[in-house]
Amino acid sequence: MRTLITNIGQLCLTEDAGSSIQRVSGSAMAMIATIPDAWLLVEDDIIHSFGSMKTVPEGQAETTIDAAGRLVLPAWCDSHTHLVFAAPRDGEFVDRIKGVSYEEIAQRGGGILNSARRLNEMPESELYDRSLHRLNSVMANGTGAIEIKSGYGLCEAGELKMLRVIRRLKETSPTIIKATLLAAHAYPVEYKNNKEGYINLIIDKILPDVAAEGLADYMDVFCEKGFFDIPETERLLEAGWKYGLKPKIHANQLHYSGGVQTGVKHNALSVDHLECVGEAEIESLKGSNTMPVLLPGAAFFLGIQYQPARKIIDAGLPVCLATDYNPGSCPSGNVPLLLTIACTQLKMTPEEAINAVTINGAAAMELQNIAGTIKAGKKANLIITKPMASISYIPYDYGNSPVEKVMINGRLVSGN
Ligand code: NIG
Ligand code: FE
Repeated sequence: MRTLITNIGQLCLTEDAGSSIQRVSGSAMAMIATIPDAWLLVEDDIIHSFGSMKTVPEGQAETTIDAAGRLVLPAWCDSHTHLVFAAPRDGEFVDRIKGVSYEEIAQRGGGILNSARRLNEMPESELYDRSLHRLNSVMANGTGAIEIKSGYGLCEAGELKMLRVIRRLKETSPTIIKATLLAAHAYPVEYKNNKEGYINLIIDKILPDVAAEGLADYMDVFCEKGFFDIPETERLLEAGWKYGLKPKIHANQLHYSGGVQTGVKHNALSVDHLECVGEAEIESLKGSNTMPVLLPGAAFFLGIQYQPARKIIDAGLPVCLATDYNPGSCPSGNVPLLLTIACTQLKMTPEEAINAVTINGAAAMELQNIAGTIKAGKKANLIITKPMASISYIPYDYGNSPVEKVMINGRLVSGN
């Protein structure tokens, strides 16, 4: 089955045709290779070829989509989400408006523990239905690859339930999904005074059982004051590596905790959040392969300081953006809105922001060979925008979806 997209106003490759870069860093983040007035041919689930309309192939496709006046981009690669959860936490949202901080809510047994209570009460089938609904909704906004974490079980049964829901989503959804074990998200109530006991449970029981069922691709730890400190994080990351689970960790959200340096030391695929980043963190990221992943949607929703994206990019490093979609700190998986926040608050240019959530998002999930750019042989996961003249219009026109059609695996999943 072949589909030809014609008259594309601008085909945004995000990677020069013929290059085989894995991610973009520093000043290269400001560049997006484009072809004006272009065509693109999809064969089955794969990008077959593309070029300028002067060379459009005739009579080769069963279906044609006329994309006149529109942009075509690679689908978003959202490398950090907690999309599987039981219930919203809008009550805590109101508490925060009234002045209670996110940390205070956590200390009094709300926050992640609140989500864990609700999740452990919910049957797996209902959790799956609610999560699938969210996944379909972010897909309609252009997300073609996504990472989803556990971390609201905080016990063997709950963590396995979450990871099995993610596995079922992998089996049933056309989106590319990576699963991360985040049992070390918070200490469950019954281990409040026995932190070592919970860490032992993760290392001796949860991790081996998750690995035996092949339920996780990565291992995450919420490395933060009041959650998991550096020695605890190191123990957990070393244990994860024994099962081949690379770290992708929550670091430096609320404090200068040393989490970034710990992630780099343990060859983390990514260190995520990074509100609290200074020279020491930037120095440690230089010369490493660890991807800095910024989650400005969470900073926006919690009203805390934003990540210093400019400093990181200007130091020659890559920046990846992800939504952090979760019921507490960022109840939105909307990438176009994330792009607007990145541009207005982090002072990233539209090109930098789009590179951060396409090619660099793919790299933060080890999907650089199949997603994140428009290249022959990669998955046909594409966004066809509404009529617009430039990439900048996407973050500019905030609150309105820029997406008209989404193609995943060569098939239109929305806007057909
Ligand atoms: O990435 N910071 C830790 N974890 C999540 C939030 C979890 C929650 O509040 O439910 C985050 O922000
Ligand atoms: Fe998170």
